[in-house]
Amino acid sequence: MERESVPRILITADGSRTLFSDTYYQSYQSISGALCQARWVFLEAGDVSRRLQARQPTRVLEVGFGTGLNAMLTLDLALATGCPLDFVSLERDLLPAWTLRALGHGRWLEHPEVAESLGNAIEEGRPRVQLAPQVHFELALGDATTIDLPRTVFDVIYLDAFSPDVNPELWTVDFLTRLHAALVRGGVLATYCVKGTVRRALESVGFDVAKRPGPPGKAEITVARR
Ligand SMILES: C[S@@+](CC[C@H](N)C(=O)[O-])C[C@H]1O[C@@H](n2cnc3c(N)ncnc32)[C@H](O)[C@@H]1O
Repeated sequence: MERESVPRILITADGSRTLFSDTYYQSYQSISGALCQARWVFLEAGDVSRRLQARQPTRVLEVGFGTGLNAMLTLDLALATGCPLDFVSLERDLLPAWTLRALGHGRWLEHPEVAESLGNAIEEGRPRVQLAPQVHFELALGDATTIDLPRTVFDVIYLDAFSPDVNPELWTVDFLTRLHAALVRGGVLATYCVKGTVRRALESVGFDVAKRPGPPGKAEITVARR
């Protein structure tokens, strides 16, 4: 009998949980702290925390919904600040709702109902969730490299694919060109990856690329601005 492999749950250094993918042979987040990585690399370096606290309406595109941690933290902050947010997440291999629930990401949220709402939507096959009149979440299912992306719409992109050696299609010049075009001018792409080939590819498609200090366990991260 063939069995689907179930990702293993790992407890990371800050107490938050992540999964280990046997397909990519990699964890979904840093084992040095999944929660810390999500906040540091995406909400902070991506400038989303500042924008939401300043009540600047924000559109975020995420490449790789995964366990939903980045999405939940961002939606949670929008609810806490009352700032309008549209969050679109791309995912090819959606994890089942029960796996996401087992990670218990809701415990890190000021509004744990965000985790519940996303879990319910996934269970019921609903791609869109309205969490407040101006806080929207959308899951775009499919291969991110073939999904139609609108041009000049997003303020921030979270590029959170698995690493380039195992998930190369999400780090190509072609795909990065489409991400660049999806950002507004001045928009920011944040990623944990600092590989030279990726930084050069980002520069070659027109980004201004900078390294920033990374979260515990990671010396540097990349922030690229259109
Ligand atoms: C590192 S995980 C993302 C972690 C996530 N942001 C979180 O908060 O848990 C990378 C994700 O990218 C997805 N992925 C990989 N290749 C993809 C592709 N070609 N199109 C869409 N999603 C893809 C994987 O299924 C996985 O869920």
